[in-house]
Amino acid sequence: MAYDFDKIATNYDRLNHIMTAGMDRLWRRRAAKEALKTARRKTASATNALTHSRTNALTLDVACGTGDMAISLAKQGCSVTGIDLSEEMLAIARRKTAEANFQLANAEALPFDDATFDAVTSAFGIRNFVHLDKGLAEMARVLKSGGRMVILEMSTPDSALVRPFYNLYTRRIIPWLGSRIAGNREAYTYLPNSIERFPKGEAMLQKLEAVGLRAEQRKFFFGVCRMYCGRKAD
Ligand SMILES: C[S@@+](CC[C@H](N)C(=O)[O-])C[C@H]1O[C@@H](n2cnc3c(N)ncnc32)[C@H](O)[C@@H]1O
Repeated sequence: MAYDFDKIATNYDRLNHIMTAGMDRLWRRRAAKEALKTARRKTASATNALTHSRTNALTLDVACGTGDMAISLAKQGCSVTGIDLSEEMLAIARRKTAEANFQLANAEALPFDDATFDAVTSAFGIRNFVHLDKGLAEMARVLKSGGRMVILEMSTPDSALVRPFYNLYTRRIIPWLGSRIAGNREAYTYLPNSIERFPKGEAMLQKLEAVGLRAEQRKFFFGVCRMYCGRKAD
């Protein structure tokens, strides 16, 4: 069963920014720019203006939560739809911005036609899917040919030197922060456990290739966060 984010929606943003020392904002901005690369290039050639910085791209942010990724996309000038399973998370997203359309939906059965979107993103969402492969297949299905799928996800660092610090931080400090700030130690114990169990690196690239994308990854902060970038064949 999917974790119920309604329980932690109120403090979700504050804890996110504290836990990542604000880096989560930067990572989402990087992902939004990456997702729109192809769309922007198409807009530029259509208008014959290579410096064109806006795009009319249709984008979908899956498991949008409180809307920060959708806001980063909207700042790039595109049209954004965000979907999530949690009404409480969506309510916060709607209060934060009117620049995106937010709706209740399941990533594993997206209510959109094939090839609807120029770009599809998900930030820290796919780890929570009950059926990861089904969710990824749905995200690829609604993506247009030539479009980009960009996924941000937390992962364990590769370096044995960094590992002990990572373990201390995720197993002791994050659950403590969760109980102090959100009054919910359990949710923030679930977080490191779910990161540990989740496929990363090559394993994730193979999953993206299995749904028809050419994929690569970029690591942020010793690989604690990874950006997976997939492109659907033209
Ligand atoms: C860790 S939060 C990430 C929120 C946001 N994307 C961000 O950047 O902070 C994970 C979100 O995934 C949503 N979620 C989990 N499974 C989902 C599914 N199958 N379909 C849609 N949303 C889902 C949860 O409700 C939650 O809001």
